[in-house]
Amino acid sequence: MTRAVYPGSFDPVTKGHLDVIERSAALVDELIVAVLKNNAKTPLFSVEERVKMLEDVTRHIPNVRVESFCGLSVEFARQRGAKALVRGLRAVTDFEYELQMAQTNRSLQPEIDTLFFATELNYAYISSTIVKEVASYGGDISGFVPPLIADQVYDKIASLKDKEGNV
Ligand code: PNS
Repeated sequence: MTRAVYPGSFDPVTKGHLDVIERSAALVDELIVAVLKNNAKTPLFSVEERVKMLEDVTRHIPNVRVESFCGLSVEFARQRGAKALVRGLRAVTDFEYELQMAQTNRSLQPEIDTLFFATELNYAYISSTIVKEVASYGGDISGFVPPLIADQVYDKIASLKDKEGNV
């Protein structure tokens, strides 16, 4: 069985992530979408919420499983018997960090390769950070995330706003 792991923060999952999930899942027997727990960034959504959101938006893809993990992506991939890590490349600005990560991961686990997917042009400028920024000012994020996720982002931001409207 060919298995790959797509690690990330997914805070929240975007249409760009979903595109990478659909395309990479079509090439392997099983794709595990792996949500990092111990991220240095303070997430908007808890790891449980992010896992649930990913499960909801990937329900139509039978060979996708969602899990959370702590520690190194490549170690998680090794434990799950995966042959590859999956990452999306939106623009050349992603390249330096992604290359460094892929080379580090390869030196840690030479038998696990990183597969890069060129993000669909329509989604190239979308990031979870941009989604949160636009939503925090009441902007329309329906083009950036699946409808189910948009509602949850607005709700979460509203729940965090104080009386002055600051997040
Ligand atoms: O969605 P993100 O935030 O760009 O994902 C980054 C992620 C989670 C893939 C990366 O930070 C990661 O793999 N973190 C776990 C620690 C690790 O394995 N680092 C890579 C070796 S440098």
